[in-house]
Amino acid sequence: MSDKTDSPPPRAATVYVCTNLRMSGASCAGQKSKAVLQAMQRRADERALTGHPMVTVRSSVCLGYCGDGPNVKVINGDFYHHVGLDDIDAILDAAEKPKRA
Ligand code: FES
Repeated sequence: MSDKTDSPPPRAATVYVCTNLRMSGASCAGQKSKAVLQAMQRRADERALTGHPMVTVRSSVCLGYCGDGPNVKVINGDFYHHVGLDDIDAILDAAEKPKRA
C-alpha cells in the first residue's frame, strides 16, 4: 500500500548545461562548464531534500553559443551565458517557475 505523501514531488524542470569540448576555438568545456554541471546537480539534489521541487540537471551537446560559455538552458525557460558557480541558485530558482508550459 502506498501513501500519496510518500511520493516524490513532481519534477519542476530540466536544465541542460553544455559540456561540449571543441578542438579549436572556445567551448563550454574549456570554460569550466563541467564544474558548473556537477555543482548544479549537487545543489539541485540538496534543494530537493529541503522541500524545493526536483530539477533535473543534465549535460548537453553544443548549444550554439560557444564563445559565451558556460551556457545553460532551462527547458521552457531562459538561456544563460557565462554561467558561474555563483549563478546556480538563481538559475534553479528560475527553473522552478517555468515561463512556458
Ligand atoms: S560548446 Fe557550449 S555552446 Fe558550443
